[in-house]
Amino acid sequence: MSPRMSDGMFVTVARVEDVPQGSVRTVRAGDEEIALAHCDAGFYATQHACIHLKGPLGEGHLEGCLLTCPWHGWQYDVRTGENDFDLAIKLRTYDVQVEDGEIRVRI
Ligand code: FES
Repeated sequence: MSPRMSDGMFVTVARVEDVPQGSVRTVRAGDEEIALAHCDAGFYATQHACIHLKGPLGEGHLEGCLLTCPWHGWQYDVRTGENDFDLAIKLRTYDVQVEDGEIRVRI
């Protein structure tokens, strides 16, 4: 089977030591801006722009796996991208791979 575009490719966005557990930061992969979070369950990547008014989620606050937007406090589970208040509102999520100390995101 030939690879599909949607299979994407993994791009290195950070090293593990750059994103301590409990933190979130903004990274870039190709043209995409991504919020990269290190929660109790591991590394997770979501779209950077909050669905409300495009607040910078990479500058948000992470507690457990719950990411709070710095602008007006919308909250998302970084593992699924789901909004905490309305599960129908969902961030785009990206597959993450950790290898040789590098964090890679599939775009
Ligand atoms: S822009 Fe994120 S809560 Fe308003």
